[in-house]
Amino acid sequence: MADYKKIAYTKAGKFEDNRFEKIHNVIFDSSKEASILVAQEIADLIREKNSQNKPCVLGLATGSSPIKVYEELVRMHKEEGLSFSNVITFNLDEYLPMDKSNIQSYFYFMHEHLFNHVDILPENINIPDGKISNEDLYQYCIDYEIKIKAVGGLDFQLLGIGRTGHIGFNEPGSHFNSGTRSITLDHITRVDAAPAFLGIDNVPRKAITMGIGTVRSAKRIVLLAWGGNKAQIIKETIEGEITSNVPATYLQEHNNTTFVLDQGASSELTRVKTPWMVTSCVWSEALKLKAVVWLSELTKKPILKLTDKDYNDNGMSGLLTDEGTAYDLNIKMFNKLQHTITGWPGGKPNADDTNRPERANPAKKRVIIFSPHPDDDVISMGGTFDRLVEQGHEVHIAYQTSGNIAVSDEEALKFAEIAEALNSNAEKAKSIISFLKQKTDNDIDSIETRLLKGMIRRGESLAATRYLGLEDSNVHFLDLPFYETGTIKKNNLSQDDVDIMCKIIEDIKPHQIYAAGDLADPHGTHKVCLDALFSALDKLKSKSYMDDCWVWLYRGAWHEWESYQIEMAVPMSPDQVLKKRHAIFYHQSQKDGVMFQGDDSREFWVRVEDRNRITAEKYNDLGLANYAAMEAFVRYHF
Ligand code: F6R
Repeated sequence: MADYKKIAYTKAGKFEDNRFEKIHNVIFDSSKEASILVAQEIADLIREKNSQNKPCVLGLATGSSPIKVYEELVRMHKEEGLSFSNVITFNLDEYLPMDKSNIQSYFYFMHEHLFNHVDILPENINIPDGKISNEDLYQYCIDYEIKIKAVGGLDFQLLGIGRTGHIGFNEPGSHFNSGTRSITLDHITRVDAAPAFLGIDNVPRKAITMGIGTVRSAKRIVLLAWGGNKAQIIKETIEGEITSNVPATYLQEHNNTTFVLDQGASSELTRVKTPWMVTSCVWSEALKLKAVVWLSELTKKPILKLTDKDYNDNGMSGLLTDEGTAYDLNIKMFNKLQHTITGWPGGKPNADDTNRPERANPAKKRVIIFSPHPDDDVISMGGTFDRLVEQGHEVHIAYQTSGNIAVSDEEALKFAEIAEALNSNAEKAKSIISFLKQKTDNDIDSIETRLLKGMIRRGESLAATRYLGLEDSNVHFLDLPFYETGTIKKNNLSQDDVDIMCKIIEDIKPHQIYAAGDLADPHGTHKVCLDALFSALDKLKSKSYMDDCWVWLYRGAWHEWESYQIEMAVPMSPDQVLKKRHAIFYHQSQKDGVMFQGDDSREFWVRVEDRNRITAEKYNDLGLANYAAMEAFVRYHF
């Protein structure tokens, strides 16, 4: 960890094994530890400038990536007396048009996350004005540039990166020497911003942004990228040729830039994804499997048909030296994959379990399936859920959040009107109806409205769990408090959340826990729900019943584990696929055009059927049995 500071200022080319890479980068286990170190670098700079009686000029970014850096800077201000009195800031961008008071504005963001909590002078804060008129825009942008130069230029520029490869809002096509200007946002950028704006139609089409030239003029640049969603664009930026199609590649020409990455964001880099292409490897069992699966996919040959030549031609001769021949290695890796397949996710009673993913005993297990939203259970593991119930295990479903913000106003109004028509609790229904009828884009739902939306999701969940044969008493709605803000931005995880998670685990004393292992979005609800589970496990790990508890992670609607990572693959017959589809259909409020669609326009049930089919096809391509579909799990060892 401490290495970061030592190597932060080294330029690309000084690592032994960074072939293919054109930008210096450092990979951390977690975005949190990385953010703390970046904050330290900024704090050191502020102090150094202060000791020289000079201003410290910072270029700042918004978005999810820098949040933890700002959190740490605020902590340092409060607990260590770090002063911002000599700091001058210039923000990268702002939506256009955008009012400062709008909670989606970058003005609001910066004040909420940083400026309101430190002693920066208001006159030292510069954020592009989202209300600037068309006539004044040109001069305004020139003045922004002049102002940066007048205070001595940017000492440090903090960046995130968009999936289009934008830095600031410099979308593809931006010029190397561009300055501050207005720009039209790419569709992908607007899709990514849609959840915060409650739908793509509300996302502004334009923004005002510092240019590539402005950013490049900074003396030091640190770009942050977290999560698997950024992995592809990070690879293109670090390893690709410089191109205006990926504006972040222009940073290859800057001689004091560091990309700070977590495991997810770095996962497509050649040295991470296929290290054998870069250097000689220490071949752990996991790496061997990864390499063999990769080779099989690359050559489009089943594992058992790979030859010595295939290995030698693809940088893997070292592996053969360790393992003998391709023949022996192939059989070993094939068996490993074969042993991940089971129709008995709760373990097969009275069977030899030496090579099975789950233990045979106890034959009847107590199982908790944690589902971040009310529907992830059936979407992500409906087939396995069904088998666990059918095979006689005591299955509990625990919905971690209410999921209320994903219920549309129209849906809520429909239910409130029905309630009113039936004259049950007419006062509450009336107040919900009048709230919804007057609601504007900026309004946060009233408590009653949120309650109703949560109830809608509860009703749908119970319909699905009943369909899969579960008693209502085995269905638990945890309503974790961190989620209950009524907005897309959630609270931080609190002790109350963790206590609720601990309580249900204590009450049930499960032999198996299933949870959503979604790490792609570091700030998304799934990740917070997983953190809540990890904290609970940490707290409970010394309890004797936890010795018998195994944790299996499934992935949410968007991704699947890589074939080489899968430790349990549960196959489904075509009939089971249909049954799963029906269970998902009970979640009607999330069907036929959901509020938080993402950039994949397919319905959830279609996405997940595609994904389960593809997993099965991948197994088949590797030379294993040909199933209709498969759900996949990775074991988490705590
Ligand atoms: C924000 C900005 C953008 C973001 C980028 C990544 O001021 O200029 O370039 O840094 O869109 O956003 P997040 O961090 O939300 O993934």
